[in-house]
Amino acid sequence: MRLNWALYGSLSCTLMVVLICGAFAFRLTKTPSATQSATFNVDASSQSARVMPDNLFGIFFEEINHAGAGGLWAELVSNRGFEAGGKNTPSIFDPWVKIGNDSNILVSTDRISTLERNEVALKMEVLCDNDDNSNPCPSQGVGVYNPGFWGMNIEDGQVYNVVLYILSVDSIDLSVSLTSSDGSQNLAQHTIEADEQEFSSWTRIEFELESSGTNSNSRLQITTSKCGTIWLDQVSVMPSDTFMGHGFRKDLASMLADIKPRFLRFPGGSYSQGRRLANAFRWKSTVGSWEQRPGHFNDVWNYWTDDGLGFFEFLQLAEDLGALPVWVIHNGISLNDQINPSSLPSFVEDVLDGIEFARGDPESTWGSVRTEMGHPNPFELKFISIGNQECGNKNYKANYLKFYTAIKAAYPDMKVVTNCDGSNGQLDHPADLYDVHVYTSASDMFSKSQLFDKTSRNGPKAFVSEYAVTGNDAGKGTLVAALAEAGFLMGLERNSDILEMASCAPLFVNNNDRRFNPDAIVFNSSMQFGTPSYWMQQFFKYSNSATYHPSTIQASNYPSLLASALTWEDTDSNRKYLKLKIVNYGSKVVSLKMSISGLETKISSGGLKTILTSSKLSDENSFEEPNKVVPVMTNISRAGETMSVAIAPYSLTSFDLLLESQDLRIFID
Ligand code: AHR
Repeated sequence: MRLNWALYGSLSCTLMVVLICGAFAFRLTKTPSATQSATFNVDASSQSARVMPDNLFGIFFEEINHAGAGGLWAELVSNRGFEAGGKNTPSIFDPWVKIGNDSNILVSTDRISTLERNEVALKMEVLCDNDDNSNPCPSQGVGVYNPGFWGMNIEDGQVYNVVLYILSVDSIDLSVSLTSSDGSQNLAQHTIEADEQEFSSWTRIEFELESSGTNSNSRLQITTSKCGTIWLDQVSVMPSDTFMGHGFRKDLASMLADIKPRFLRFPGGSYSQGRRLANAFRWKSTVGSWEQRPGHFNDVWNYWTDDGLGFFEFLQLAEDLGALPVWVIHNGISLNDQINPSSLPSFVEDVLDGIEFARGDPESTWGSVRTEMGHPNPFELKFISIGNQECGNKNYKANYLKFYTAIKAAYPDMKVVTNCDGSNGQLDHPADLYDVHVYTSASDMFSKSQLFDKTSRNGPKAFVSEYAVTGNDAGKGTLVAALAEAGFLMGLERNSDILEMASCAPLFVNNNDRRFNPDAIVFNSSMQFGTPSYWMQQFFKYSNSATYHPSTIQASNYPSLLASALTWEDTDSNRKYLKLKIVNYGSKVVSLKMSISGLETKISSGGLKTILTSSKLSDENSFEEPNKVVPVMTNISRAGETMSVAIAPYSLTSFDLLLESQDLRIFID
């Protein structure tokens, strides 16, 4: 089967992938269900139309579940700077493992590095030597290995950039290799031979390794068979092929690009606050060369991060995705402690410096740091969230006002987000947006499609920066969760006169470190799949800047239907589509009469129907069945202003109808 995508514009490569998944959309129809009749009336007149916000749907990235370290950030070495064990040496150096035993090698940590914020290095005292008959080294040599984050994905023919710092007053003969998890399969190798002089002060070396095989559970080995003492620091292995060449794992970043997010909220969530102040994400420690970054313990989600994915990289990711960055700043309040009020000015100063880093002149103090990092042009930072969920804290508002006043004085155009909910009454402090987090059961999420119906139309707008069905309904990402969330998002579209932005949470989970369920994208070292909630978001990716049309959907004694109508324009092809979305959250097949009035342009006779459903509400995708619950697209031949369609039980369906008598055809070989 082949689609003529040139005719169909950007509707979209994702849908092409899911087409392959074929006929399972009809599974539900095999089980006879009761039928419910319903009507769906759309007022598509220009008088009733309303333009929806440009940045309505985006993404929220938090360093949770190893989303970044061991995930989106493509660095393969875990604890590359040996700092994870703390500053007091000797320290533990997990997950590095010694190769050899105490009679042939001793491994420990030392505070010996010249890198200012990053002093700990690894010390290998090699006691064996192949030239010494009394203590020869084992045949594979001795040294250390790093398993990465639950195995490194090394692929045949791919090139990996290796950087490491070496110090030794002895001559050395080191082998740096990528191998299988037991060391038996050698995928790539590089040898470093040097006399006593060459590494007598810390020296950075860089080389490429090209793999001759594929193994998704590989490790990096640094071994030798030569007696002497060698210190190692800042050992990095990065795939050379990353998303837009900026260090993001390509498969994962592409999944983000596919849902066309208009904003990227980062770095958390609770991660942005830290459980303890000392462990919070502080942007200044995450910029500059990666070797200089101290890294920090993510004490909210309990793992170390080398901060390869730092402030600069978040801004870069937003730019690469065509999304606006939304920076969640530390407002002085962590989960378990907070700053002494006397320290508040320095926190405010820190944020102003951060804004200068993001968008200041290339010559400015912090703009020049950005420039040195390779980005002289300012990033488009226009949104700042003053914290995450601290509104209930007694110091929140006082702190908030200090940040708000200072930011607005220096950057009047900056949109400031409070985390006090303003949906039920007026806020008692100034803000451009207020943040709302919605975590609830599926049925409650579906009913929350009305959450903003009664909200005042004056005052700051709402930003639902975290929403997800959680608890039993959610499993690890079920169909029912996705359907309930679709209903919720339709309510947000209807209220998008006062609802400015929304994003689901969390975005990613490394399957080896599930801290929070459910998540939109699941991955391990080499594979990835979207949960039904991820695929549900594909139905909303054209809503940004689209034109909303009021509509009513009615079915007697069947409160399980919600719908939404909009027109959107594919700017690449200049084609316009009327998009009708219907969620059927009940068990009946719905015989739906759709009627569109007020259109100023004609509907072409063709169109596309996309459906997300499955045989059970609890159905999930998995590594074994990644496409169990994914959208399935079929062409419809008789589109028009009135249409009778069958809507499957427990489904999300959309109809994309081409407007202005443009030719929409699908060629099937
Ligand atoms: O999304 C997971 C967590 O839920 C976020 O860190 C926090 O903001 C919320 O409580």
